[in-house]
Amino acid sequence: MTNKNEWWKNAVVYQIYPQSFKDSNNDGIGDINGIREKIPYLKDLGINVIWLNPIYESPMVDNGYDISDYYKIHESYGSMEDFDNLLKEAHDSGIKIIMDLAVCASSVEHKWFKESKKSRNNKYSDYYIWKDPKPDGSAPNNWGSIFGSGSAWEYCGEREQYYLHLFAVEQPDLNWENPDLRKEVYDNMEFWLNKGVDGFRLDSISLISKNQDFPDDPNANKNDYGSPYFGSSNGPRVHEFLQEMYDNVLSKYDVMTVGEATRTPVDKALLYCQPERKELNMVFQFDHMHVDYGKFGRYSDLKFKLSDLKETMFLWQKKLNGVGWNSLYWDNHDQPRFVSRFGNDNPKYRKQSATMLATVLYFQQGTPFIYQGDEIGMTNVSFDTIDFYKDIEAHNMYRKFSDMGLPNEEIMCYIHNKSRDNARTPMQWDTNLFSGFSHAKPWIELNPNYPEINVENDIKSEFSLHDYYKDIIKYRKESKIVREGDFKEISPEDSDIFSYTRTYEGHTLLVLGSFSDKKVCYNIPNHLKDFNRELVISNYDSNIEQNENGSTLYLRPYEAIVFYVQQKIINKR
Ligand code: NOJ
Repeated sequence: MTNKNEWWKNAVVYQIYPQSFKDSNNDGIGDINGIREKIPYLKDLGINVIWLNPIYESPMVDNGYDISDYYKIHESYGSMEDFDNLLKEAHDSGIKIIMDLAVCASSVEHKWFKESKKSRNNKYSDYYIWKDPKPDGSAPNNWGSIFGSGSAWEYCGEREQYYLHLFAVEQPDLNWENPDLRKEVYDNMEFWLNKGVDGFRLDSISLISKNQDFPDDPNANKNDYGSPYFGSSNGPRVHEFLQEMYDNVLSKYDVMTVGEATRTPVDKALLYCQPERKELNMVFQFDHMHVDYGKFGRYSDLKFKLSDLKETMFLWQKKLNGVGWNSLYWDNHDQPRFVSRFGNDNPKYRKQSATMLATVLYFQQGTPFIYQGDEIGMTNVSFDTIDFYKDIEAHNMYRKFSDMGLPNEEIMCYIHNKSRDNARTPMQWDTNLFSGFSHAKPWIELNPNYPEINVENDIKSEFSLHDYYKDIIKYRKESKIVREGDFKEISPEDSDIFSYTRTYEGHTLLVLGSFSDKKVCYNIPNHLKDFNRELVISNYDSNIEQNENGSTLYLRPYEAIVFYVQQKIINKR
């Protein structure tokens, strides 16, 4: 079956991090039955797809991305029966489910790895990437691990060889060069698809094909490891593998696929998502996640420049228009909360800036992804010490920076800004102890602001973020302009305002959002000055402020406005 109706273009995806969404059995860990309880909530929000972060059996070194059995459900999340019920109930409510396919690496606890490390000539020997040491016994090349724990190679005495792990030591990379391994992956995909799941988010997919020469990264600083991405990003056979996956599996089902494409510039992204290439429907791009990188990469205290953010987002909109398809996201389980990073989480501006960001993102072309809690404007957390953090990456980075001699205050500032745990604190449902997430102490501390910021409070407040999201989602579903319209940037150099138009068959939406906490002027673009303007959505409830003839608007802090602009003779939609 082919994706003839391209339903994923109309999808609005809600991402669930199972561990932190809703705990049904009060062991402090979110679970599948907790998700089932919240299906009515999700249906009411208007989303129609759930992306589930990994729920498979796992020792949980990397919160489930280290998988020890791709056919089993992790014990604390529930049973396969619970999953089947979740799938059925979601489908009955008009909600599809896509799974996380994490097949760049497995866990060291997977039976394949346990066998693989035993010898060089058993069935699983080549399921992973093994290399002999250099003559001096050192690692095969200078690649460092993405999680900052040192070399990307780990020596295994049993085989007298090193294995590659781009991420944690406990996550050996799978060897995609091996056709038997690829067949195992395809069989597993069929297993879940035959259950009725509706697609996959393909984890780290741009990293599965390695340069078989395994060259040193020549740009590495002296005495430091090279970039783990060198020789593994968008590798030589990645498209061949994905086309094979499409032919063998995906082409037989009407599913949605989104590939996590780290270090993939837009031209390369097209190779993954042009429909005629028969690979994936879309990718998660990272360019806009890089706008505030500093001298240590992601862990930084830099503030982004709006012009940089616009440049990259506008580029993706323009380059993919008509030839590929975008994913639209501000954050996920690996990123800080978007309102803290791109908006302003000061209580005075939190709601305005969160809704402004939602507006300027979700009126773009592509499939929206909403990370759990974004719809109520959940914020970053600043735990006092590293001991409160759970993420393996945060701990590795803390160690690395300490070894480098950075002051604790500086390190904690980076962790507060960028730790992945910012996004992983439990979902804030209500004002009860543990915020309605659980009756037991959660596996990770709650954000202490939960008594103010929670679903219950938000929904009953005068200005509900949740309801604003509902309005946007509803509008998107009904609007061909939002789905299909051409994208045109406005004043990309403006340092306060994010603005663009979407136009479909002569019908235009003008979208604008202020990133400033002061009042700023916005001049309506000349070619739209004589048009009638009809308000589609705004995040202020009082009248728009403008000059007498309406050619200049005075945008209040973090104000967002979408107009439908119309020449008098044109009929609306
Ligand atoms: C990407 C996932 O999004 C992230 O959470 C995980 O740590 C890495 N892949 C490694 O599995």
